Amino acid sequence: MREDVRYLTALLSQLDESALDNVSLQAAVRTVKEEAEALGIDLKQILAEMSAMKPNRLQALVSVESLMEDLDIAENSANTILEIKEGLIGPARQRNDETISLKEMIAGTVGNMGLPDGVVEMGWAEDLPMVRADARQLEQVFDNLIKNAWEALSHAQVSAPKIYIVGARDEDPNFVQVMVKDNGPGIPKEIQEKVWVSFFTTKGGKGGTGLGLSAVLQIVNQHGGRIWLESGTGKGVAFFVRLPAEK
Ligand SMILES: Nc1ncnc2c1ncn2[C@@H]1O[C@H](COP(=O)(O)OP(=O)(O)O)[C@@H](O)[C@H]1O
Ligand SMILES: [Mg+2]
Repeated sequence: MREDVRYLTALLSQLDESALDNVSLQAAVRTVKEEAEALGIDLKQILAEMSAMKPNRLQALVSVESLMEDLDIAENSANTILEIKEGLIGPARQRNDETISLKEMIAGTVGNMGLPDGVVEMGWAEDLPMVRADARQLEQVFDNLIKNAWEALSHAQVSAPKIYIVGARDEDPNFVQVMVKDNGPGIPKEIQEKVWVSFFTTKGGKGGTGLGLSAVLQIVNQHGGRIWLESGTGKGVAFFVRLPAEK
C-alpha cells in the first residue's frame, strides 16, 4: 500500500506530464488532472498537504486495509492467549460438580461450534446414565476433541468430513463411555503418545497451542475417568472418554 502511495505521489508531482517519457503515463496524468479540474479540486494543494504529512500519518490515512489486517492479527492473538489461559488454568479451576446429561451437554457444545450441516452425527444409548462432573470443564473436553477433529478434517480437505459422537454404557456398568471419531488423516503411531503432552502440536504457526489434549487428559483423570485413542493412519481417529456414572 505504501508503495502505491509513494508511486501516486511521485506521479502526481509530475504535474507537468510532458516531463514523463511514458506515453500512457502522460495520458493518465493528463486525465487525472482534467478530471480534478472539472471537479474543482486543486491537485497542487492536495499534493502539498500530503507531502507535509508525516509518512506514518499518510499510511494510516490511506491504508485502512492494512489496519483491518492488524485488527485481525490482534484478535487472533487475543484468542490464542485466551486458549492458552484456558488450557493451563481450566483443569486447575475449582470444581463445581453437578448432575449432567452428556447427551444434552454435548449437543449444546456442538450447536455452539457452528460446524457445517451434516458433519456431526450423534447416537445415544437410551439408558445412558447421568454423570457427576464440572459442566464447564467437561464442555472443554468435548469442545477440544471436536475442534481437533474438525481442524484435522479441514486441513486434510476430506471430501465428506464426518465426526461421529456415540454415547453408551461402558462394559463396566459404573461407567459411561463417549466416543468421538472422525474420518480424517488419523494420528501416526509415532506421535500417538506425544499428543497428550503440553505444548505438543503439529499446527505450528497456525494457531495450535498444543494444550488441548493435555487439558482434556487432566480433566478426565481428575473426574475419575480415563481417555485413550485408537487410530490407523488415513483411517481417522477415535477418542474414547470413560466417565463414572452417577450413583
Ligand atoms: N482428530 C485428530 N486428527 C488428527 N490429529 C489430531 C486429532 N486430534 C489431535 N491431533 C493431533 O494432536 C496434536 C495435539 O492436539 P492438541 O493438544 O489439541 O493441540 P493443538 O490442537 O493446539 O495442536 C495436534 O496438533 C494433532 O497433531
Ligand atoms: Mg487442539
